[in-house]
Amino acid sequence: MSANTVPVDNAAYIMGRTSEEYTRLKRQAQVWEPMTRSVLEQAGIAPGMSCLDAGCGPGEVMRLMAGYVGSSGRVVGLDADAAIGAEALSALHGAGFAQCSFRQADLTATEHVDEAPFDLVFARLLLFHIRKPADALRRLYSWVKPGGRIVIQDYDTTAVDNEPTHEVIAEFKNVWSGVCKRAGLDERIGLRLPHLFSEAGIGRPDGTDVAGLFLPMDVSWQMVTGVYRSVLPLALQFGLTTKERSEWFCEQIAGPDLANFHVRWPLLMSAWKQKPL
Ligand SMILES: C[S@@+](CC[C@H](N)C(=O)[O-])C[C@H]1O[C@@H](n2cnc3c(N)ncnc32)[C@H](O)[C@@H]1O
Repeated sequence: MSANTVPVDNAAYIMGRTSEEYTRLKRQAQVWEPMTRSVLEQAGIAPGMSCLDAGCGPGEVMRLMAGYVGSSGRVVGLDADAAIGAEALSALHGAGFAQCSFRQADLTATEHVDEAPFDLVFARLLLFHIRKPADALRRLYSWVKPGGRIVIQDYDTTAVDNEPTHEVIAEFKNVWSGVCKRAGLDERIGLRLPHLFSEAGIGRPDGTDVAGLFLPMDVSWQMVTGVYRSVLPLALQFGLTTKERSEWFCEQIAGPDLANFHVRWPLLMSAWKQKPL
């Protein structure tokens, strides 16, 4: 069977659910924290609000939201992965954020959330993983109160690059893009957000934002390698790389020869909208 005809389980989550991936998500959340804060503030997050973080993962944005809404507010995290949600909730409660709770649910199969409607519905890097993102967005918007806000952040991963080009980054791009293509995921979904808002019946966003990072390899390599390793089982299944080449990649990327190469990270694109009263 050729690489192009390897069947993919469309329900599968391409990043996998390993403790290494959970750690990578926490690191990634720290990197994007200032950009997410800025967007939440522009969208009007305020004390006392009720918020939903859909696809909350390790709960780092729930923590930010809990800080903004305070003890009179409420933050619900929703994720298909019960284990990551339990870990997130235990860390949040341990840190004193008693206003946080978690619901295990697959957004594509859930019409109703008990706590809805919310003052603010948020999703970061979730729609990317959903095959019918406009349907999911329509559902998220239905959980927003009249006068409430929807805030979405997602990647354009085609921005990942370096100059002069290097074989190691070419290997990353080949593996990442190949897995996305075969899994039916849109690498440029971040750029498509305003169009998705319109498709979902939300209308033109009130605000949009784009954030980028351009960092040396000795800072970037752990994130790049983490993503690579998370999708590697699928990349091997699809014939996009080999075990030997993946070992070469992991060795090269962390080595001194590449330390001064700078990598442009995926762009984090945002769009938000207040629901009419
Ligand atoms: C890339 S992580 C992002 C986590 C978090 N939003 C952040 O930015 O730190 C995507 C998360 O979405 C969750 N997810 C993927 N598909 C989902 C679905 N259909 N329903 C609910 N959660 C889903 C995954 O389990 C994972 O925790």
